[in-house]
Amino acid sequence: MTTHIQRGFLLFLSFWLIQPLIAQAALDPAKDPKYCGSCHKRIYKEWSQSLMGQDLNNPIVYQFYTGTNPQGKKDGLGFQPMMHGKKGDCADCHVPELVLEKHAKGEEVDLGIAMKQKLDYGISCHFCHSVADVDIRKDSDGRYHTRIFETAKLGPPGTFHGPRADARAPVHGSKQSEVFKQSRFCAMCHLNQEKFLSISQYDDWKQAYESGKTDKTCQECHMPLLPGKHKLATVEGLDTPERVTRAHSFVGAHDPAMLRKALTLDLKPRVQDGKLVVETTVENVGAGHKVPGSGPIRNVILKIDATDASGKPLHYIGDKRGLLPPLAGFGNPKTGQRDPNDWGGMPGKMYAKVYRSKPIPKMGNKPMVGVGGFLADAVVFDTALKPKEPDHARFVFALPENGGEIHVKARLVYRDAFKPLSDRKGWKLAQREMLSKSQTLKP
Ligand code: HEC
Ligand code: HEC
Ligand code: HEC
Ligand code: HEC
Ligand code: HEC
Repeated sequence: MTTHIQRGFLLFLSFWLIQPLIAQAALDPAKDPKYCGSCHKRIYKEWSQSLMGQDLNNPIVYQFYTGTNPQGKKDGLGFQPMMHGKKGDCADCHVPELVLEKHAKGEEVDLGIAMKQKLDYGISCHFCHSVADVDIRKDSDGRYHTRIFETAKLGPPGTFHGPRADARAPVHGSKQSEVFKQSRFCAMCHLNQEKFLSISQYDDWKQAYESGKTDKTCQECHMPLLPGKHKLATVEGLDTPERVTRAHSFVGAHDPAMLRKALTLDLKPRVQDGKLVVETTVENVGAGHKVPGSGPIRNVILKIDATDASGKPLHYIGDKRGLLPPLAGFGNPKTGQRDPNDWGGMPGKMYAKVYRSKPIPKMGNKPMVGVGGFLADAVVFDTALKPKEPDHARFVFALPENGGEIHVKARLVYRDAFKPLSDRKGWKLAQREMLSKSQTLKP
C-alpha cells in the first residue's frame, strides 16, 4: 500500500518528469502551416487535403510504429516491439524538422511520442521550403545514404526556397532553387536504404528516366499544372501577380483517376483443346516508377473470375503460378473462415515486392513473409510492374460440364497492405479497383 506521502512524492516526480515534455510541446507558430496558409490560401487547402498534409494524424503510421491496434492495445506487430523499443529512423520522413533539430543535439526522435504529443507539424510547408538543396549520394558499394540529416540541406532561417527567381514576399525572404523542379527533391523521403532499398521510388524513377521509359518528373505527375493562372498568395494591400502554377495536391494511389491511368489491362480468353485459356497482359503505362511503387506492404492484385452460365466458378487446372499467394488473404488462421476479400489460392497474380524476415523465435523460428523494410532479410519475389514492361500471364480452366456460356472477368485492385497483415492489425482493408474487363464466350 502506498502512503499519502509516497503518493505525494510520486505526483511530484511525475510532474517533474513531464515538465520537459510540456516545454518541448511549445511549437514555433512561425512554422505552422496555418500561418503560411493565411496568405497562401489555395496552396494550404490543397496540401491539407493531401496524404502528406495529414501524415501527422495517420493512425496506420502510429500503430505500425508502436505495435498497437486500432483500440490502442499492444499487439506486438510493429517497429518498436520487433526492434526491442529502438527509436530507429522512422521519424526521419514523417516528422523531419524535429529530427533535424534533435539530431543537431545528438538526440533521436520517437515517432510515436512525436505524433501523439504533436511535437512537430509533419511534412510541412516550412520544412520543404527551408530546403535549399538535396544531396543524394551512394557509397562505393552502391548503397544510398538516406537519413534526412544526410540528404536535406537547409538554407538560412526565414528564407524560403521555391522554383522562381522573381517571387517577392513581404514577410519572408525568397530564393530560387533548381531542386524544386527536380525529382531529387522528393528523393529526400521517397527513397529508403535499409538492407534493401525498401522505398525505391526515386531509384526506380531514375532508371526509367535514364532509359527513356518516362520523360516526366515526380512534380509533373503528382503536382499537376492548374488550368489558367493563379495568385500564389493573397495579401491585403499588395498586388501579387497571377501565374501558371502547380497544385500541392500530391495525388497518388488514393486518387481514382491516378489509379485508372497507371496501368492497361488486356484480356484474351479462348477455348483451346477442350479447355478455357485466359491470357492477360498488364502494362504500367502511366507511372514513372514501379506499380505498386513504394512501401513494401502495398500490393496490386490481378484477379481472374471464370464462371459458367449460372455463375458457378470454373475449375482451375492450370499452372500453380496462376494462383494467388497466401498474402492475398487466407482467412482466419484459427477458424479457417474466409471473408470475400480472402483471395489466396484463387486464380490471379500478385504484383508486389515481397520481403521475408530472419527466422523469428516467437513464431516457431520461422521467417515472416511480407514484412516492412526494417525486418527485410531476403526478397521472396518482386513482380512490381516496371514502366513500359508488359507482364503476360496465363490461366487455364476446365470447361463447364453442361456447356453453355462462359463469363470471364479480370480486375486489377490496389491494396494498401497485405490482407493477412491488415487482418492481424484489425485494419479495415483499403482496397481500390484500378481497372476491370469482362468477356463472354459461347463455345
Ligand atoms: C513535400 C514538400 C512540399 C510541401 C509540404 C509544400 N511544398 Fe510548396 N512546393 C514544393 C515544390 C516541389 C514546389 C515546386 C513545384 C513546381 O513548380 O515544380 C513548390 C512550390 C511552392 C510555391 C511556388 C509556386 C509557384 O508556382 O511558383 C509556393 C508559394 C509554395 N510551394 C508554398 C507552399 C505552402 C504555403 C505550403 C504549405 C501549405 C507548401 N508549399 C507545402 C514542395 C512542397
Ligand atoms: C525515407 C523516408 C521514410 C522513412 C525512414 C520511413 N517512412 Fe514510412 N513512409 C514513407 C513514405 C514516402 C510513405 C508513403 C508510401 C506510399 O504511399 O506508398 C510512408 C508510409 C508509411 C506507412 C503507410 C501509411 C498508410 O496510410 O498506409 C506506414 C505504416 C509507415 N510509413 C511507417 C513507418 C515506420 C514504422 C517507419 C520506421 C521503420 C517508417 N515509416 C520510416 C517514408 C518513410
Ligand atoms: C503575409 C503573407 C505571407 C505569409 C504569411 C507567407 N508568405 Fe510565402 N509568399 C508571400 C508572397 C506575397 C509571395 C510572392 C508571390 C509571388 O511572387 O507571386 C510569397 C512567396 C513564397 C515562396 C516563393 C515561391 C516561388 O515561386 O519560388 C515560397 C516558397 C513561400 N512563399 C513559402 C512560404 C512559407 C513556407 C510560409 C510559411 C512558413 C509562407 N510562405 C508565409 C506571402 C506570404
Ligand atoms: C519530408 C518527407 C517527404 C518529402 C520531401 C516528400 N514526401 Fe511524399 N510522402 C511522404 C510520406 C511520409 C508520405 C505518406 C503519408 C501517409 O500516408 O501518412 C508521402 C505520401 C506521398 C504521396 C501520396 C501517395 C498516395 O498513396 O496517395 C504522394 C503522391 C507523394 N508523397 C509524392 C511526393 C512528391 C511528388 C514529392 C516531391 C515533390 C514528395 N512526395 C516529397 C514523405 C515525403
Ligand atoms: C509519369 C507519371 C509519374 C511520375 C514521373 C511519377 N509518378 Fe508516382 N505515381 C504515378 C501514378 C499514375 C501513380 C498511381 C499508381 C500507383 O500507385 O503505383 C503513382 C503513385 C505514386 C505513389 C503512391 C504509392 C505507389 O503505389 O507508388 C507515390 C508515393 C508516388 N507515386 C511518388 C512518386 C515520386 C516520389 C516520383 C518521383 C521520383 C514519382 N512518383 C514519379 C505517376 C507518376
